[in-house]
Amino acid sequence: MAESYFGDDVVVVTGGGRGLGRAYCLELARDGAAIVVNDVAADVADDVVREIESAGGRAAASYDSVATLEGARSIVDTALERFGALHGVVNNAGSMANGMFEEITPAMLDRMLDVHVRGSFFVTQAAWPRMREQGYGRVVMVSSSGGMFAASGHANYAAAKAGLYGLCKALSWEGQEHGILVNALLPFAETTIAAADPVPGLVEAFPKGLLEGLSARGRPPEAVAPMVAYLVSRACTVTGEAFCAGMGHFARVFVAHGRGWNAADTVGITVDDIARHVDEIRDLGGHRVPKYLPDELELIAQSLGLEYG
Ligand SMILES: NC(=O)c1ccc[n+]([C@@H]2O[C@H](COP(=O)([O-])OP(=O)(O)OC[C@H]3O[C@@H](n4cnc5c(N)ncnc54)[C@H](O)[C@@H]3O)[C@@H](O)[C@H]2O)c1
Repeated sequence: MAESYFGDDVVVVTGGGRGLGRAYCLELARDGAAIVVNDVAADVADDVVREIESAGGRAAASYDSVATLEGARSIVDTALERFGALHGVVNNAGSMANGMFEEITPAMLDRMLDVHVRGSFFVTQAAWPRMREQGYGRVVMVSSSGGMFAASGHANYAAAKAGLYGLCKALSWEGQEHGILVNALLPFAETTIAAADPVPGLVEAFPKGLLEGLSARGRPPEAVAPMVAYLVSRACTVTGEAFCAGMGHFARVFVAHGRGWNAADTVGITVDDIARHVDEIRDLGGHRVPKYLPDELELIAQSLGLEYG
């Protein structure tokens, strides 16, 4: 990749000490960006910084937790103090606290909301004024297929990760007039995130031989990193979109609105009407992908044949 994809850009990668985050740091550093390697596990953050520096790259470590406002501000300050700039944020820090729904305690829910939702919210909010001021910014929200498509055994994680999709969409709207592009990522890679705490019932639910087939293909974090590099680079032109990346597969994931069924009037609609039309209501044919809420309302107005404007 040409260095012009990043110029002298500075990128913060949260949870950058292990797994996917480590792969993002190494890829971005190789591509020319200066990296703040943030991780609450100081030893692994230091290892990644050493690895980048010994390959001739620029990196600084930060050991703050993303989950507090002070921690998030301090991560951003590290970028500004060490490199005098900040252009991109990869909100990757994460963990799991798995269990079947009835076993999930308020503390397990808080852990997920803290690291995923509050963490990504706070770090991005701390970076935002700088990005607005310079009229340029790139943000990646690391969501998950575990949230957007979901599975049993991690309802707290699913709720938090799906929440990041909403955060991505809302910030992409607010950022567009300031040159700030915000996208979401749904990665797949073999890491240690669930090693000590497997998602109950998940592996058993896979079709026979699927995991073996995927493992034979290989699920390295390095196969996800180029997508992240693109999304935080100057080459990126898209915003408010979500991308699946893993095993060398890259695809857009989107929320769509079906053709639906329209009642003749807004009064007098009965449960019976819904029951009779539920197949039309559920039908996926003719779906469209509104970008933002007004686009969805416009689509509804068109479907109803309303005149406006
Ligand atoms: N591995 C996958 O297939 C997969 C799939 C979908 C989503 N994800 C998401 O990708 C991200 C990275 O996952 P991974 O698989 O590389 O996991 P990982 O456990 O290997 O790495 C996560 C890193 O985040 C750090 N971290 C945790 N809490 C933190 C905090 N409060 N502040 C700063 N750092 C913190 C950890 O110390 C760890 O080094 C996570 O957000 C995860 O939910 C992973």
